[in-house]
Amino acid sequence: MVCWQAPSNIALVKYWGKHGEQLPSNPSISMTLKNSKTITGLEWKKSDTPSSDIRFRYFFEGQENQNFSNKVALFLNRLSQEIEGLNQFEFTIHSKNTFPHSAGIASSASSMAALVCCIDDFASINKLRYKNSSLAQMQTEQRRGFLARLGSGSACRSVYGGYVSWGSESLEIPFQHLDIHEEFMNWRDSILIIDSNKKSVSSRMGHALMNQHPYAKTRFEQAKHHHQEIIESLKLGDTKRVCAITKKESWELHALMMLASPPFCLIRPNSLYALEKIENAGESWSFPWTYTLDAGPNIHLLYPSYAHDQVQDFIQRQLADFLEEGKWIEDEVGEGPSTHDWIF
Ligand code: PMV
Repeated sequence: MVCWQAPSNIALVKYWGKHGEQLPSNPSISMTLKNSKTITGLEWKKSDTPSSDIRFRYFFEGQENQNFSNKVALFLNRLSQEIEGLNQFEFTIHSKNTFPHSAGIASSASSMAALVCCIDDFASINKLRYKNSSLAQMQTEQRRGFLARLGSGSACRSVYGGYVSWGSESLEIPFQHLDIHEEFMNWRDSILIIDSNKKSVSSRMGHALMNQHPYAKTRFEQAKHHHQEIIESLKLGDTKRVCAITKKESWELHALMMLASPPFCLIRPNSLYALEKIENAGESWSFPWTYTLDAGPNIHLLYPSYAHDQVQDFIQRQLADFLEEGKWIEDEVGEGPSTHDWIF
């Protein structure tokens, strides 16, 4: 058996729109988180007969979970096209998130990344061969990124820590600590839970709506530009530019949703009330800050760690009324996946 933990990530420049097999229509860049993780354990048993479909049982937080099982089935069957002999095993997969269930944090990136780390480890222990020689020759993280992408696009960025770019070249690229200005190495993310209900429109549907989107071409150009600009700014320590691009990106993402056919809106009234409070308070803050929203109503408030106490106080006093059950989650830049003790 093997057990891995992998983190979630929050995109500063968003991936929205895809082509081919989960290839992004524009480059993106994300910050890997530290506390919001999925822990996945994999057990296996060799079977006498190979099977056309991969055999597995999937348990989420101790319960068999049909909804996620269907995604895992698709993913494992896709992986068996890459890994010789995967279909000669029976698997039991246990999974658990460190963030509360239904906190409105997308868990597909962390869960797919954790599962890939387990499968890749399992393949190496059992000396299974990657059919594609270029996959076999890749460095471990690169291969894991490639495989994770097949499960969920943004999952490929979760195989690395720190800040990760994906899509300017086809593979994801980590920025090593040396490349990013130290200013950004200890940033925090307070995840403000506005609404934890399941989204009315899935990311898969949102990506698909970019295919016929009237602003697709402009968006992909703009994102490319933002991607280049934010990388320069992250290297230079230009907090003003990083913060401005990050904010703009979340509005562009949500504007694209509202201008899609059919249009949809994932921002909730309380997202707007909270953002207004943040904008007002932010005018007097002496530290750099920004926010971003993923494809959902929750707000990621980003700022350097030295401002932590001041921001906590502000959230408690001014935002709690807009948050579901007054909840928010504290996170920060993290290091990427690692092995974990068996806890299942
Ligand atoms: O990885 P997916 O297919 O769930 O898409 C993620 C899309 C966004 O979270 C909105 C943006 C991003 O780059 O993470």
